[in-house]
Amino acid sequence: MSAEVAAAVDALRAGELVLLPTETVYGLAADAANAQAVARIFEAKGRPRFNPLISHVFDQAAAERIALFDDRARALAAAFWPGPLTIVAPLKDAAAVCDLARAGLDTVAVRAPSHPLARAVLAGFGRPVVAPSANRSGRPSPTRFSDAVEETGAATAVALDGGDCEVGLESTVVSVTDQVRLLRPGAITREELEALIGPLAEAEDDARRSPGRLAAHYAPEAPVRLNALEAQPGEILIGFGPVAGQFSLSPSGDLREAAANLFKLLREADRAGPEGIAVAPVPEHGLGEAINDRLARAAGKVG
Ligand code: TXA
Ligand code: MG
Repeated sequence: MSAEVAAAVDALRAGELVLLPTETVYGLAADAANAQAVARIFEAKGRPRFNPLISHVFDQAAAERIALFDDRARALAAAFWPGPLTIVAPLKDAAAVCDLARAGLDTVAVRAPSHPLARAVLAGFGRPVVAPSANRSGRPSPTRFSDAVEETGAATAVALDGGDCEVGLESTVVSVTDQVRLLRPGAITREELEALIGPLAEAEDDARRSPGRLAAHYAPEAPVRLNALEAQPGEILIGFGPVAGQFSLSPSGDLREAAANLFKLLREADRAGPEGIAVAPVPEHGLGEAINDRLARAAGKVG
């Protein structure tokens, strides 16, 4: 174990917070079993307590110690872990993930991240680690170390620099209970999920099923306008494909590149202090569903 990973593991054991890089976005991590440590996360983020956290585990075996997996959950974990998929399943071990971390629900969200530093910390700690995105509540998730430090670094005992997050968007969240539902589109696309387990059930009452979907999220300071082909006076245009702007999500129209750039460019555009941020249209297929979901939230069109 490297010295920085050992320091992070010690901090988690002591009930302190750690800035943890994952392949999706930076997380603000704590011992899932320690209610006092988890309370610090809610405080540092200014996060409403009804919004539950994801428990990060090393692998499927560790996940199945805290959650009840059926054949579909097992198939999803086998196909996409370690990686950017979160599975919500019935809770098995209430002591391993404290009530506050689950917002009192009888389900638990679990994910095995693939980032080598996250994996090293999880292997060293040996128990579930809760980690919401490291932004203050309502702000874009940090995808760079410096952005993560700026958001919530002050609340952490150890901050691990894992470089830029490869995916750049939060994990896909699916619940596997009576049916399989997509609660949050993300890096693993609807198409990839359906190829494995067949058609997904319609997400019913979004807010009730995934409490985090209630609040407006991912919003920069400046108002965001979508499907823009050119900038209005005072606006910064973030382009995509043929629509060129001061920034571009991906000049070649590549959705993977666009996802990786999305939060970084929203932050950069916002730093310039424009009257508004205009964003070019992004197609809805594949990763586009998650990108458009985050853009709609940034524009205040959802929740
Ligand atoms: O990629 C990610 O998932 C990142 C990295 C750090 O792993 N984490 C992240 O956590 O995005 P957070 O807290 O920002 O988002 C977790 C989402 C929220 O929308 C929350 O409501 C939902 O997962 N969630 C957590 N537990 C749940 C549960 N038991 N039932 C339904 N939704 C749940
Ligand atoms: Mg978040």
